[in-house]
Amino acid sequence: MSSKKVFHIVGARPNFMKAAPVIAALKDHPGIHQRLIHTGQHYDKNMSDVFFQQLGLPSPDINLEVGSGSQAVQTAQIMMSLEEFLLAQPADLVMVYGDVNSTIAAALVSVKLGIPVAHVEAGLRSFDRSMPEEINRILTDQISNLLFTPSLDGNENLKREGVSPEKIHFVGNVMIDTLVRLLPQAEARPLPQNIPLNGKPYALITLHRPSNVDNPKNLERLLGALEKISRKIQIVFPVHPRTAQRIRQQGLENLSRGLFLLDPLGYLDFIALQKKATVVITDSGGIQEETTFLGIPCLTLRKNTERPITLTLGTNRLVEEPEALPEEVYRAISAGGPRGSVPPLWDGKSATRIAEITATTLGISAPLAATI
Ligand code: UD1
Repeated sequence: MSSKKVFHIVGARPNFMKAAPVIAALKDHPGIHQRLIHTGQHYDKNMSDVFFQQLGLPSPDINLEVGSGSQAVQTAQIMMSLEEFLLAQPADLVMVYGDVNSTIAAALVSVKLGIPVAHVEAGLRSFDRSMPEEINRILTDQISNLLFTPSLDGNENLKREGVSPEKIHFVGNVMIDTLVRLLPQAEARPLPQNIPLNGKPYALITLHRPSNVDNPKNLERLLGALEKISRKIQIVFPVHPRTAQRIRQQGLENLSRGLFLLDPLGYLDFIALQKKATVVITDSGGIQEETTFLGIPCLTLRKNTERPITLTLGTNRLVEEPEALPEEVYRAISAGGPRGSVPPLWDGKSATRIAEITATTLGISAPLAATI
């Protein structure tokens, strides 16, 4: 049997926990040779290196070191560097993850070189084209050959956009694969020592969307709401570099005085903090899913979500206006928030399904009868 080369492209923090289980599952297919390419979109130790260590990811075969830049500069630099790499080292399939700039850049380069693309976490839609991630999702899905969806709304969205059904595979959520595998380790760790929680309840917050942090007025309103909440419940806030920069630039440090501000945390510490939180407040995508799996109430500071299943089945609620946040938090604290259930196929085995389908598509092994 001839062997096939599968290249995984990752670049930003949320890619790492999605690629890890897929790389591990593909190792069970000896005819597949894998390479891992880091674009360098995220480069700080605590945005990248710590995830590689804790997730057990192999070191990247190459880091393209593109770093930060405007949307166009960052995307273009990834494309130029990756094209050079793929011309020198051709792949049989390129796997891309999620919806970050590295995802669309890699998909576009690969497809134009005639290399088939597999998109893990396909089909999600917020229907809000002002989000850079929505543009990345729509375009990546249009040019991918294999589309792996985490929930059936993804299949519906793709079919509506004209993607042929035989390309679409509902496999479940790979992010949850990583959570299922590492939750016991996360729970066994003491919480990070620099957070003086004293066993008291706390709200965990993350914030980094341009719509929330790039507009000075919005950021000020949000920090004002958090300051109010912190008089009722302590707030733990690991701050994304983008948000830290904006708080500094806009001189809003005084509004964040009542909160425990931390540098971004590693995967295990963050999961441990989520698991023990009374409520999570976020504008992230993945955290809406993790809280749904963990059964922790989640308040998402956005007017829409590309993960509607976290609203219909899970523990997530959208909060559009910062001024409405305190009431929602108090409600979650007193009532415990929506109970929620775990969505179909969020069972820790999604990457195994992806690996089987990928191997079959590449002509490496027989189809798996049980694949949905
Ligand atoms: C990116 C993704 C977003 C994802 C998020 C997770 C896109 C369009 N956005 O947003 O979907 O939820 O990652 O973190 O791809 N910076 C550092 N160190 C780093 C990385 C970034 O200091 O290691 C700072 C830089 O000032 C940079 C800014 O953060 O300009 C924004 O980084 P960027 O990669 O452009 O987007 P994110 O906001 O991280």
